[in-house]
Amino acid sequence: MNAVNEFAIPHRWSKKYPQFGTGPLSIEPIISEEVFKLERDKIFRKAWLQVCREEDLPEKGSFFTRHIELCNVHVLVSRGEDGKIRAFHNVCSHRLNKLVWDAQGKGKFHACKFHGWVYNSSGQLVDVPDEGSFFGLNKKENGLEPIHLDIWQGFIFICLDPQPEQTLPEFLGDVVGMLDGYKFDKFSLGYGYKSRLKCNWKIAVDSQQEAYHAVTLHRRTLGDICVDKNNPYMHALDIQFMGPHRMISLPFPAEYNPTPMAEVSARYAWTIKKKDHGVLDPSNMPKGVNPTRAKNWLFDIYLIWPNFWIAVFDGAYQTHNFWPTGLDSMYQEIKMHVIKPTTNGELFALEHAKAMNRDTWVEDFSTLETTQTVLHSGAKKHFILQDEEILIRHFYKTLQEQMST
Ligand code: FES
Ligand SMILES: [Fe+2]
Repeated sequence: MNAVNEFAIPHRWSKKYPQFGTGPLSIEPIISEEVFKLERDKIFRKAWLQVCREEDLPEKGSFFTRHIELCNVHVLVSRGEDGKIRAFHNVCSHRLNKLVWDAQGKGKFHACKFHGWVYNSSGQLVDVPDEGSFFGLNKKENGLEPIHLDIWQGFIFICLDPQPEQTLPEFLGDVVGMLDGYKFDKFSLGYGYKSRLKCNWKIAVDSQQEAYHAVTLHRRTLGDICVDKNNPYMHALDIQFMGPHRMISLPFPAEYNPTPMAEVSARYAWTIKKKDHGVLDPSNMPKGVNPTRAKNWLFDIYLIWPNFWIAVFDGAYQTHNFWPTGLDSMYQEIKMHVIKPTTNGELFALEHAKAMNRDTWVEDFSTLETTQTVLHSGAKKHFILQDEEILIRHFYKTLQEQMST
């Protein structure tokens, strides 16, 4: 008896998750000013947002700043002298000047460049020039305004809501149990890219939550990475939904003919070519990493609501943050975290992977700006989605639910 080719079973995901439907998907949430404002107020001002990692703040006094343009919030994340990481509005209490202007750095104290008020790295106001001329000023009550912060697996999240509806573990829900045990701390930043795109943030997210495009859009860069006669369109190994979050597990093709350069590179370090790096213990895998325990597993993509994306491989992990800045504009950061290279061969492999990833990402985002103009043209009112694009359905259903609460 022949084994069933799971990849060829039609409509696997819509049968498993009928609640997301099979019909066309309205483009209205991508072009509507009203939706955009609701996203800001009901989603980005409420959700836990990933802003940096613990290793971005390695020492006492290390800091990191971030302007969340959508919400008009300047954030300062700082490690105090007590070693604790805290977040604040990056705003001086005197006449509300932006306090810290560098993107990242280290300092025991932060002095405001307007009139010289000084705060320590725990956010306390410690010095006020000409203090006697103020009127009953209590320095203890005029430190920096705190923002809620919590850390999961080294990922630093903030919540702009003064009274968050959920703690970070509650917000992450089942994602915690699925990824706990993956050794994020074994990796360090290998390379990353930042860019601004003239499109709605959601179509950029959509471009990273299906593999249907890989065979066509990445033909030039990935070549026959996607060729597999049992699975010619890179159908998923698994798809799961965890409240507002979702994941897709993707396979490695049965046959892979790397370019000569990729072949050489793979001898030294992680590349997209499957290779065991001893980071994952096959006998003790996190529940949500290769959840089907497939022999031909390549990687899993997790989409943490609303704008944070993590891809876990056996020898690297990648993150992606999508930040809306306007209805038709966004800012994004992509970072690849790798095992720190220690030899010239590993450095070479890293440079090769960097160039290859850059090219695939350029391909990924090459369609979006034009698509955004077309969306506004009125030419079409809907997207037509196939079964393997079910994560997109979940995304817009979640968006609708969150905006109506
Ligand atoms: S605004 Fe900061 S010291 Fe005046
Ligand atoms: Fe892609």
